Amino acid sequence: MRRKIVAGNWKMNKDFESGIDLIEDIVELLDENPAGEVNVVLAPPYTHLQSAVEMLIDNKDISVSAQNCHHEKGGAYTGEISVEMLNSIGVDAVIIGHSERREYFAETNEQLAKKVNLALEQEMIPIFCCGEVLDERKANKHFEVVEKQIKESLFHLSAEQFDNVVIAYEPVWAIGTGETASPEQAQEIHAFIRTTVEKQYGAEVANDLSILYGGSCKPSNSKELFAKPDVDGGLIGGAALNAQDFVAIIHSF
Ligand code: PGA
Repeated sequence: MRRKIVAGNWKMNKDFESGIDLIEDIVELLDENPAGEVNVVLAPPYTHLQSAVEMLIDNKDISVSAQNCHHEKGGAYTGEISVEMLNSIGVDAVIIGHSERREYFAETNEQLAKKVNLALEQEMIPIFCCGEVLDERKANKHFEVVEKQIKESLFHLSAEQFDNVVIAYEPVWAIGTGETASPEQAQEIHAFIRTTVEKQYGAEVANDLSILYGGSCKPSNSKELFAKPDVDGGLIGGAALNAQDFVAIIHSF
């Protein structure tokens, strides 16, 4: 089913105590003014995940996501975290292929496909990120780039498996830069993503897919972005670190 989703990607921010405070503040604000039909997702750092799951165990509106996982099932990968480990503490979802992971950790489409498989095996939701860099946008190659990322990491899945995937379109030039894609630019590429999925899996699967926008999404622009027919919510970075801003984005639907 196509869902409205607002996910907060905290990245490498917030120590443990301030992270727990942030969760408490978000819960309190949503108690006063509920999220309604919006699915809220929090993706704090690994060190906060277990506590986040415990704090939110009875909260039906908020689920917990990791920001990454390793592409192998387990073994000698010092410092890494497996999908199975995440699942064993009750994490619901995992962000896969964020542009910062692609850029700073050289993650390839092939590795990301493996991560997606492992997440689905553990019945976790992969929040799969795609998006072009500025030069690709300027050269009008963004459609091609996004299509390749999606095809190479997702199109090996069966339609049944694909049904559990969430896609986040995040133009790299808009992440953390203050520059946002216009609602028209977001709609154009979200519609393209949905059509690409439709060609592979048919109209029903494409229509059920939630496609989130990410990249300097904030309370001042989320309403216009979310009003577009193919924008089903947002993956929020900077603005997710402030409870008021994050909850305002949730309520902008
Ligand atoms: P931003 O980050 O909202 O700070 O631009 C979004 C993201 O990287 O997921």
